[in-house]
Amino acid sequence: MTTDEMIVRLKATLKERRFIHTMGVANEAVRLAPRFGVDGGKAYIAGLLHDCAKNFSPEQVREYCDRYGLTLDPYSEKEPALIHAFLGATVARVDYGVEDPEILSAIYYHTTGKPGMSPMEKLIYIADLTEPNRSLDLGRSAEMSARIRELVEEDIDEALIYAIGCSVTHVLKKGNLIHPDSIFARNYLIENRRKNS
Ligand SMILES: [Fe+2]
Ligand SMILES: [Fe+2]
Repeated sequence: MTTDEMIVRLKATLKERRFIHTMGVANEAVRLAPRFGVDGGKAYIAGLLHDCAKNFSPEQVREYCDRYGLTLDPYSEKEPALIHAFLGATVARVDYGVEDPEILSAIYYHTTGKPGMSPMEKLIYIADLTEPNRSLDLGRSAEMSARIRELVEEDIDEALIYAIGCSVTHVLKKGNLIHPDSIFARNYLIENRRKNS
């Protein structure tokens, strides 16, 4: 499937504000790709598809999980906001024909993060928070995005530590479950920083 065909399908399956956010992440991922040392074309596809399962109904989620034998971890099972990332990697593969593991794992981990993230995983995690349309309606502030953008120029891992902190704080404020991978991801980066200082 070409990227233009992906965009047509995304426009048909996502709510309007999610589609606008999606295009913002894809463009932001391309902009930041050289800084992260990743391929811009792959970054564009990962950005386009990162939220491809976001507006699935509970019935669709169940159908895909059953059909493709997906088992959700205990946190994702209880926290619908987490499911779209894990499911999105499968949807990108089966509905959009993406086979590249670098792209698929960036989609899979874009919400939780994980210890030892690859450059592409870091890029999509960050671009999801810094694309210019995000602060309009998704509970993130423009100041937070601006700070992450600044930090990315100085030190990618510092930007990630800050970004994970913002996401976890956001989830705390909402009173939702925190996925342990987010904590492990942050601990990993902080331990690394200590080792290197
Ligand atoms: Fe997402
Ligand atoms: Fe997103």
